[in-house]
Amino acid sequence: EQIEKHGFPFFMEKEIHEQPASVERAISGRINLDGATGHLGGLNMSARDLLGVDNVGIVAAGTSYYAGMVGAYLLESVARIKSSAELSSEVRYKNPIVTPGSLYFAVSQSGETIDTLYALRELQRKGGKVLGVCNVVGSTIARESDGGVYIHSGPEIAVASTKAFTSQISVFYIFTLLMARMRHMSWEAGIDFAKALKHIPSQIETILGQTEPIRRLAKKYARYQNFLFLGRGINYPVAMEGALKLKEISYIHAEGYSAAEIKHGPIALINEQTPSLFLVSDDSLREKVITSMKEVKARRGRVIAVAVEGDEEVADIADDYLYIPHTEELMYPFLMVVPLQLFAYYCALELGRNVDQPRNLAKSVTVE
Ligand code: G6P
Repeated sequence: EQIEKHGFPFFMEKEIHEQPASVERAISGRINLDGATGHLGGLNMSARDLLGVDNVGIVAAGTSYYAGMVGAYLLESVARIKSSAELSSEVRYKNPIVTPGSLYFAVSQSGETIDTLYALRELQRKGGKVLGVCNVVGSTIARESDGGVYIHSGPEIAVASTKAFTSQISVFYIFTLLMARMRHMSWEAGIDFAKALKHIPSQIETILGQTEPIRRLAKKYARYQNFLFLGRGINYPVAMEGALKLKEISYIHAEGYSAAEIKHGPIALINEQTPSLFLVSDDSLREKVITSMKEVKARRGRVIAVAVEGDEEVADIADDYLYIPHTEELMYPFLMVVPLQLFAYYCALELGRNVDQPRNLAKSVTVE
């Protein structure tokens, strides 16, 4: 086991550090720079079929669900296709409406999650076309789906999913590029999107080269018992994923929320003992996120910010901050999630938790 961990104390840390390579594998051969588009071989759909898609439904559980939320956001905002992500456990029992223009994705690292498998079967029974986004080759969901994409992360051993998330979203970035280019996206815009995506592995590498500030932050905060993780837009699902990571491996209670939504409830929790971690990218929602940060500060809440290199305004407001490199507006989930994975990991280490095998959790849940 020690050999397989390549010197890392836990598989989770090893898997976090594999992400420059695993994202590279997920996108490799799938970006056509000449045509400024995406290429996914396993979809089993003609260009005409893809053009006819007017609704995308993504079903998944856990971390894969948050990756699906990022995918739905991208497909709707960039490819202009009505899209949503839903928990597979809920889809199965809601008598879902399947229309001829609908296309579904079942996202599952293991390809064995029973809730997701049952949702896939129910959608197929209603005539839906369901594509798999799986890591494990030959898994049940990969076999039963009507086509799909392997994320090629390599084995993910730690119960808490990390590298699968960044590879799953990679697939949705590629699919979005493909679908957007078939619709309104220009060649120039496609090139910008593709280039930003290709640059992501080296930017993740940069973040992984500077883990000391994240470790220090975890040392300082690991003994707090409640956290809020707040983001907006495409970073909102990333906030939820960050909170999930912290819960799973450190057993610290954390809630992921839209920063806009705290005024409808969670702000009542704010005091010196409940830190809020804000995701602040340099996009059109930045000002609004900063306003929420100030609201938390005004209620004596501690604020941690993950912000873009050089954002001094955010650094001034926050009690503590981490910088990430600048990227295109919609690419931030890749760069935001890595510090959150490491923060959860170092908090768990600090508390002496069994990082790879957290209590009560299984890598793959094959019971309903
Ligand atoms: C379990 C694991 C999570 C995972 C979820 C979905 O709860 O502990 O890490 O995100 O299942 O798994 P899947 O294999 O379907 O992506």
